Amino acid sequence: MPHTPDRHAIRGSYVTFCANPFTTPDALVLEEDGLIIMEHGRITQCGPYATLSPLLGDNTPLTHYPDCLISAGFIDAHVHYPQISAIASWGEQLLPWLEQYIFPTEAEFADVDVARRTARLFLSELLRNGTTTAAVYCTVHPQSVDAFFEESARLGTRMIAGKVLMDRNCPPNLQDTAQSGYDQSAALIARWHGRDRQLYAVTPRFAITSTPEQLELAGTLFQHTPGLYMQTHLAENLDEIAAVRSLFPNRSSYLDVYAKAGLDGPRAIFGHAIHMAEHDFAHCHHSGCTLAHCPTSNLFLGSGAFALFDALKPTRPVHVALGTDVGAGTSLSLLATMGEAYKVSLMAGNTRLSAAQALWLATAGAARALHLHDHIGLIAPGMEADLCVMDPAATPLMAQRSARCTSLAERLFTLMVLGDDRAIRATWANGRLVHARAQTQADAAVHTG
Ligand code: GUN
Ligand code: FE
Repeated sequence: MPHTPDRHAIRGSYVTFCANPFTTPDALVLEEDGLIIMEHGRITQCGPYATLSPLLGDNTPLTHYPDCLISAGFIDAHVHYPQISAIASWGEQLLPWLEQYIFPTEAEFADVDVARRTARLFLSELLRNGTTTAAVYCTVHPQSVDAFFEESARLGTRMIAGKVLMDRNCPPNLQDTAQSGYDQSAALIARWHGRDRQLYAVTPRFAITSTPEQLELAGTLFQHTPGLYMQTHLAENLDEIAAVRSLFPNRSSYLDVYAKAGLDGPRAIFGHAIHMAEHDFAHCHHSGCTLAHCPTSNLFLGSGAFALFDALKPTRPVHVALGTDVGAGTSLSLLATMGEAYKVSLMAGNTRLSAAQALWLATAGAARALHLHDHIGLIAPGMEADLCVMDPAATPLMAQRSARCTSLAERLFTLMVLGDDRAIRATWANGRLVHARAQTQADAAVHTG
């Protein structure tokens, strides 16, 4: 990894938020020629270059990104690192897709070398896509969690992750028990939760693969450890929902299965939540749960279209963040995911997601939804220095389209509809450069005319 001294400054156009763009117009703030000064992993000053440049002195290394747009690092609220090897698996909806493709792939993580290699590849892919924080499912094997956090700690990224809990309805080589799952999770929490930037999430896969006893014990862990997260899947697919109803006939809804086990509240992150009743959204609002909207996965598994603007209804808004949900999702790029969120929101209710709103869901809004807004999600003094440098002219097509943009909203929309990892020029995490895009032949051709 490139060596970066503790104090560093970045010059370029940057965008951040002064409010929530779903409730406040002009919430997106642009600093056309900005300077961001970082020290010991935090942003110490930021603002107009013309005003702040005297603070640089002679000894602060400065990196200039002309013609780029800098944002806070992206946040992915729902993704499965072991599944990158099974992305793009053909032909099935959720339950048979899990059986045919996902369980066999996750079984390979009994081998710690597979876990280490995959964690390394996955985290470097996140950084290539400008993602600096994610809520990550590991596998049922505790060593898959150690491998993941070890690599994240080495990179200095802020990550949330946990061991999957499954004690029924899955292959025997992927099963734990209510007690072993509890004990292994407790040991991992003691080892990793709150260690530098790492945070733990109790991770029952979903109601189908956990007994009521396992959900109860997961709820006990979640409710009794300060700052702990909980992540699971909710109301993704109609066959899944029917199976949950028959496994838990005494519960009033899918969400109620989790709520009765103590698996709701602040820092509870539910993936998908596509097929929700009004009382479910109301419960999420009142108890402070977070929903992870995974648009590429909605489409890839044909699960349905998440009703984003319904979830955000101003009278009872629910916290929402974006997730890629790889391997059911088809891209680790939050830019691509923002673009698909725009389309899914049109499909779900003819509602129009603005570029500023999409960026909010991938940065500051996600940080709020994950209760990390004192740490990440904005470019502001005191925030941790996680930054993503976007190149609106990353490809010849993007260059052509971006040259015709007349507003910031249009530039951002072009980035989210056409952009992916190619549009990420550089990524900084904890004040250090962790990814710089190699110059491609296309770049070279453009630059030499
Ligand atoms: N529901 C239970 N497990 C999974 C999973 O791995 N991916 C998705 N998309 N949904 C799930
Ligand atoms: Fe998922």
